[in-house]
Amino acid sequence: MAYTLPELGYAYDALEPHFDAQTMEIHHSKHHQAYVNNANAALEGLPAELVEMCPGQLVSNLDKIPAEKRGVLRNNAGGHANHSLFWKGLKKGTTLQGALKDAIERDFGSVDAFKAEFEKAAATRFGSGWAWLVLTAEGKLAVVSTANQDNPLMGKEVAGCEGFPLLGLDVWEHAYYLKFQNRRPDYIKEFWNVVNWDFVAERFEQKTAHCNCAK
Ligand SMILES: [Fe+2]
Repeated sequence: MAYTLPELGYAYDALEPHFDAQTMEIHHSKHHQAYVNNANAALEGLPAELVEMCPGQLVSNLDKIPAEKRGVLRNNAGGHANHSLFWKGLKKGTTLQGALKDAIERDFGSVDAFKAEFEKAAATRFGSGWAWLVLTAEGKLAVVSTANQDNPLMGKEVAGCEGFPLLGLDVWEHAYYLKFQNRRPDYIKEFWNVVNWDFVAERFEQKTAHCNCAK
């Protein structure tokens, strides 16, 4: 079964005025769709064991993919997994609270210190990539960033970092250029108004799904 573009679960204009409807529509229906299409094309002819994995599982197992398809699936199954998580992490009006807030204060010192570290990771990622809040194998929260469509699930040797991603911020220009042009720091600041803390907290407490993405 091929991957499909997941529904957002909210309207393209649901995050206005922070994230604009036009960017959301192009980002979801064009950019994310292209990653799905390219991944499906590359999955053709591969063993069922690989094809049946969700994108998060697949990018956790890049070494099992034939070398000639590894790069295209790293980029496109990676893009699919990353964006599927990104959409779920967005919602207006939620509050950071409970066990997740406690863990952030424990591991970063304060919520503001966490935000500052995340903003720095997002702002200093050169070129295209992502900033992440991850849960490490030791059960601690950490901020990391990846290039291109790499995901912490790919592991240190591939992505340069590791961990179970709880929250991701897309810092490709396609995510912000229409509204923010070159002002990536403004886009990053606006992100805090649309983080779906309820989703992040649920993911933190369950620690089960690889990516929550539809196939
Ligand atoms: Fe994107």
